[in-house]
This record gives sequence, structure tokens and C-alpha cells, in this order.
Amino acid sequence: MIKHDVLVVGGGLAGLRAAIGLAPNRNVAVISQVHPVRSHSGAAQGGVNAALGNAPDGTVDSPERHAFDTIKGSDYLADQPAALTMCRLAPEVVYEMEHWGACFSRFPDGRIAQRPFGGTGFARTCYSSDRTGHVLLQTLYEQAVKLGVRVYSEQMVTRLVVRDGRCHGVVLYDLKTGKFECLGARYCVFATGGYGRIFGNSTNALINTGSGIGMAAQAGLPLKDMEFVQFHPTSLFGTNILITEGARGEGAYLVNRDGERFMSRYAPSVMELAPRDITARSIQTEIAEGRGFPGGYVHLDLRHLGKTRILERLPGIRQICLDFGGIDPIDTPIPIQPAQHYSMGGIGTDSSGMTSVENFYAAGECACVSVHGANRLGGNSLLDTVVFGRLAAEAINARSAGFEFEPSEAALIESRAAQQQQADNLISREHGPSHAEIRDELRACCSGKLGIFRNEEDLSDAVALIRRLRDRYCGVACRTRTGPYQTEIVHVLHLECQLLLAEIIATGALARKESRGSHYRNDYPTRDDGQWLKHTVARISDQEVQLTYTSVDTSLHEPKARTY
Ligand code: FUM
Repeated sequence: MIKHDVLVVGGGLAGLRAAIGLAPNRNVAVISQVHPVRSHSGAAQGGVNAALGNAPDGTVDSPERHAFDTIKGSDYLADQPAALTMCRLAPEVVYEMEHWGACFSRFPDGRIAQRPFGGTGFARTCYSSDRTGHVLLQTLYEQAVKLGVRVYSEQMVTRLVVRDGRCHGVVLYDLKTGKFECLGARYCVFATGGYGRIFGNSTNALINTGSGIGMAAQAGLPLKDMEFVQFHPTSLFGTNILITEGARGEGAYLVNRDGERFMSRYAPSVMELAPRDITARSIQTEIAEGRGFPGGYVHLDLRHLGKTRILERLPGIRQICLDFGGIDPIDTPIPIQPAQHYSMGGIGTDSSGMTSVENFYAAGECACVSVHGANRLGGNSLLDTVVFGRLAAEAINARSAGFEFEPSEAALIESRAAQQQQADNLISREHGPSHAEIRDELRACCSGKLGIFRNEEDLSDAVALIRRLRDRYCGVACRTRTGPYQTEIVHVLHLECQLLLAEIIATGALARKESRGSHYRNDYPTRDDGQWLKHTVARISDQEVQLTYTSVDTSLHEPKARTY
């Protein structure tokens, strides 16, 4: 049986950064559903936040100021020392990426260029035009290749093997052979990304099923703050492809059908650069109150920026508009609507990525440290991946004693056999709904009832509907056999995780009777620190969702009303 010192599941930025930190000392391997440079991190556009202090207006910046903006943006649900840890490391990780060859955009004097993003008020976001994630991903992949990191591409992990309080490795489906295999590990790091594709309207790639988070929950790990789902204000109307916040950072306007810059009504001092939760709600309100365009969108107007600036700073979104919208933003406003974008919640970890299973770590979007609380600031996601990927590697390197642990071959072989049996049962079933039918209903339910505006009735309906879908899933039939490049079985298995995650999100949202950050309840429209300044912790026990709560570390800044 193949064993590694460390198995990193996920070939995006968090996973690669963890592997790079481990590779000089350890036998490390990355398992990825796709080739790593096709990971969803590559779709990140606008930039990565770091208090470099290069702002052209001379604003003095500091990690402490960055941390305060992050904490305020989180609606005070972030654990404040963790946010400060991330912001303190930000300049170092950005320069590290630069020294590894990341080609950041530059100011005329040669320093790394920075642009404003929402919730900050001045230029803190470092960028590579509007292809920052792509550039960082190529940079880290080069480093991984240089260090000889073993990469298992096109391998879909389907089970996390946890027994007697330790992780022993994973079971995976090898797309090239169509067989289930198991890999042993002394340490395992999940960097499996978010769950955007349980929503019908998402900026996420199709691979973002959330299966990693779901597998952790199935293995008994607690998930934290799952009801906090980020909706990006600007996705291309119809396709929901991301149109970067960097466009508004460069000065683009949000305009309704009356030609009005409506953000003056909602965030008069920062306008289009309000945090995402506020901006997405404002757009949705304009649409709901009849000031949007027919079909349900508003305009993002770049025309006044001029052709030269658009081509230099925003070439990627211009191309997206040409290819997928049939319009050129140089001379036509972009039709946009909010879409699911990011999961603030995830597998509960500390700042080193450690979970409740001591040799199992998580980093990046699948983890909840928590630094983003109830609402993440744009530009803090790329930062989170490289900071916490690196910190997970450092923590594992420091725990040399754990490398004597031998993963149990019996546990791995039994898990693989159980997985094979489940697959055989699914394939031999002659009648039953397809995974696609159930998945489409799940997506409609999440988009319709767990969206930007929530209320008791919709949330109760969502819990009941998801339960019914989980019951129907018990009879799901897989129409194709396993075999080389047969993917249906993986979709079926991952759907089980998605149903679980959706129920956890809905249950947490129904229970939280307040509005905070991205979680807005029309029936409880204000924040209630007395009752709800606490993290939600969800566990699965006997197939039921159980919620408990833990305190938030507010030791640096006393929570205040959040105004912009
Ligand atoms: O709008 C964007 O470019 C996305 C950035 C982010 O999610 O951090």
C-alpha cells in the first residue's frame, strides 16, 4: 500500500502552499481532482490584501489596520487574534510569492501596485491585472515541481479514513482506471475548497462541490459557522461568471435602470466599495423594488475608465464579457447580478490548521479558522490560502514526533471495501432517481431559500425539503458502471456530501435569529450580540444535524455598530 508522510488533498493555492512548506523535509503528495493549475484558485481575479503601504495617496497602512478592517467586515464574528495573525503575515507571503516569480502589476516606481477593494477605503489589494489567482497558482505549481512534490491528478477522494481518533488516509476514485484505491498518511491536510455548486447561481467552478467539507462531517468532525454564505455582488447576468470587485476598485459604477448610482442610498461614504454583504443586498433590493432591468439585473458601468485602463487593468473581465455576454465593457455597461461566491464556514481549525482530529489539518476555503466571521472582505481569500497553507505546513513540520505513527492498513482496506460495496449497490440498482435530478432540486432550494434575504418560513421549508431529498437519495441509481473516465459514480457519492452540507447550512441559518454579515433575516433584521455573538458548531450524529455554540475571541476590538 502506498503511504506518504503527508497527504494534501486539493491542488489549489492552499494545498500547494502547504505541500511546498512540507516538501523539503517530508514525503508529501498532493491529490487533486484536476491538474493543479486548473484548480478553482485560478479563477480568482482581483487581488490579495497586504498592508504594504504602497497606496498612491500616501495612506499609511499597517497589519493592525488591515486586521481591524477584516474584523469589522466580519461583523465581529472573526476570532480577532487569528485575523491579526493572517494580516501580520500578509506582507511576507506577498513578497515571498513575488520572489518566487509572481508577476504582480507595478506602480511606475516599480513597487507592487495596490488597488482599493470593499470595506477598506484605500488601496491595499495587490494584483496581477485581473488574473491574480491564475498568476499565483502558476507560481506555486512551479515551486511544487521544483521541489519534486508528487501530484496525483484526476483522483477524486471519496472518504476520509478516521479511526480511534486519528486519520489514517483517504479512499479515492482514480479517474484514469475507474478503480477505488486507498492511500495511507501520517498526516493529512484538506485544502479542498468551497461548496459553491450546491447553489444554482454560483461563481464557482463545477469541481467546487464541497465534498471535502462533507467528508470531514461524515467522519465526525465539527463544522463551524456554515450558515454564513457569501454572495459576490457582481457576476455576469445569466452565466454568473465572476466580474471582479477590482472593477469597482478601479472606479466602476453600479447603476440602476433609472441611471442612478444607487449605492448612495445604502453606503454613502464608500459607495461601490462597501463590503460585499452590504453591496449584494443593495443590488438585490434595487432589483426587488423594480429599479433593476427586466430579468433581474443592474449595470456595472466601466465606460468612464477608458479603453487604456480597461485593457491594462481589467483585460480578463473584458474578455469574459465579449465571450459570454456578447458585449464590450469599453463602450457598454455590464449586466450583473449577485451570485454565491464563497463559504465563510467550514471545517473548524485553529490558526495552525489543526482540527479536532490531531493529525488531520485543513486550510483555505474548506476551513474555518475563523478569520472571515460572518462576511469576508474581497482580497482576503487568496491571502487566507497562502497564509494558512504555510502555517499548516509549519505546524506539521514542528510535530516531528507524529511521524512515527503508522496508518492502519486494516482501516484503509476496510474503508476501500466499504466504498466499493456502496458503489456496487448504486450501480446494481435498476430504478431510482438520477443524481442530477436530486442535485438540481437541491440547487434550486439553496438559491431560492438560503439566499441573500432569509426568513423563518423559507428556512423551515429548506430544512424539510433537504430532508426529503436526503430520503430520496437513499434510492438514487447510478446509470453508468465504474471504469476509466466514468465520472457518474463520483457525482453520486459527492451528492451525499452536498445534501449534508445544505442541511447544516439551513439548520444553522434557521436557528440564528439575528442578522449578521452575509446572514440577513428579514424577520430579525438587526445584529443581536447579546444572544448571537457566538460561533455555530455543527456535528452529524445518527444522520441528524446537531448544533452547539462556542464563544468568539473579541479580545482586540470591542464589537460596535457597523456603518460605512
Ligand atoms: O472580485 C474578486 O476579484 C474576488 C476576489 C475575492 O473573492 O477575494
